[in-house]
Amino acid sequence: MKAKSLPPGPGSHNMLNNLRALRTNVPVYLQEIARRYGDIAYLRIGRQRIILLNHPDFIRDVLVTHNRKFAKGRGMKFIKKVIGNGLLASEGEFHLRQRRMMQPLFHKKRIAAFAGMMADTAAGFQVAWRNREAVDMADEMMKLTLTIAGKALFSVDIRDECEEIGQALDTAMRLFPRMMMPAGGLLFRLPLPETRAFNRAIARMETTIQRMIAERRTQDNPPDDVLTLLLNARDEQGSDQMTGRQIRDEVITLLLAGHETTAIALTWTWFLLATHPHVEERLHAELAHVLDGRLPTAEDLPALTCTYNILRESMRLYPPAYVIARRALSAHEIGGYLIPENATVLMSQYVMHRDARFFREPDFFLPERWDEPEMQDLPRFAYFPFGGGPRVCIGEAFALQESMLILATLAQRWRFRLASDQPVDILPRVTLRPRYGMRMIPELRVHKGSALLV
Ligand code: HEM
Repeated sequence: MKAKSLPPGPGSHNMLNNLRALRTNVPVYLQEIARRYGDIAYLRIGRQRIILLNHPDFIRDVLVTHNRKFAKGRGMKFIKKVIGNGLLASEGEFHLRQRRMMQPLFHKKRIAAFAGMMADTAAGFQVAWRNREAVDMADEMMKLTLTIAGKALFSVDIRDECEEIGQALDTAMRLFPRMMMPAGGLLFRLPLPETRAFNRAIARMETTIQRMIAERRTQDNPPDDVLTLLLNARDEQGSDQMTGRQIRDEVITLLLAGHETTAIALTWTWFLLATHPHVEERLHAELAHVLDGRLPTAEDLPALTCTYNILRESMRLYPPAYVIARRALSAHEIGGYLIPENATVLMSQYVMHRDARFFREPDFFLPERWDEPEMQDLPRFAYFPFGGGPRVCIGEAFALQESMLILATLAQRWRFRLASDQPVDILPRVTLRPRYGMRMIPELRVHKGSALLV
């Protein structure tokens, strides 16, 4: 390909500044660059060349049109240490084969069959809460979605293991920003306390999962859940099954990819509802009208339009996956500029979702915007919380159903207010966590005679 020029941007100027800013607040720094340089920008950190794409057409070019020219980003090497070669990390033909084998697990009907379990688990979960006694909703949502993921995957209540798996994840995620810095890979070769803690955490999680797989293999009447489906999955020729190692990798991938993102979406949603009581009122009115005090089902979801808009808007402002990274396998051209071979291409949901060209008053929480006619013309990649193209999130429908059922179940019984001493800020790690957790005060809305009182 004939060399064009690199896009405009800070390039390798201010390399230290780039490094510092990326370490502390990736999405906000990317937003600054987008504002200064426009639809495509170039920066450099160490030997890493980074191209930031800030236009829906350019993002489509990478995720859809020329997706075969790109592999997953450098960060995946680290994430692989946790999830192995599961669906999120695998590449090429192998990924395609796994995706085809696993797609049936996410069929609409299968997901709808989990609805009762999701609402029941949410209803059962809240019995531990006391009126006006603060709880950390970030922790609570993490435990709730992990419990639901455990039930969908293995049909067992892994609440007891939650603490352990949660801690393992936390240890891993804390290392992530350091891993992403130049020479970050060295971390794993040094006998640092963090590295040892990380390896211990992964080993603990692995033991739990291996135990569950081993138990399932000897069961006479296995339950109809994701693990059984994985153990029986065949490729298109009906011959090849997954190896034990691959099943372990897929299970860990689904457990991790599936619970943390959903928990974070819900945590930010509770925060936004607490700080926008007029929206909360509209939500309560819809729930009273559609559900009248009973637990929600999969059939109720199409009628819960306000609930859905609230979630969409929450994931617009606080997209749990706030940036997608790819590595250019060969030189490529976008918008008349050169994307060099091996360059990292970043596409940030956080940046695009707050772009005033596509969203009026982009920093405001306005769920009703999703009913406006002009939103019909929103370009596909102006809003992409679940990514897009062949690697679009396989759990999108699962996550939306789960979040709506949890929101509808809990909001019928409680409203949450932010604890008075609770600071709020983002903590961009692999996902967009709340930096200081989210301590909230639950206030009972329904007292007696309600099906929600479990
Ligand atoms: C609000 C919740 C969720 C969000 C925001 C989210 C976001 C995403 C995004 C942005 C990607 C694409 C990453 C890329 O292109 O590099 C992705 C992929 C993936 N997600 Fe999700 N996700 C969510 C929930 C789930 C759930 C519930 C599951 C599983 C039950 C799941 C499993 C996966 C898997 C396996 C992939 C890799 C797909 C592939 O490459 O073929 N996610 N997710």
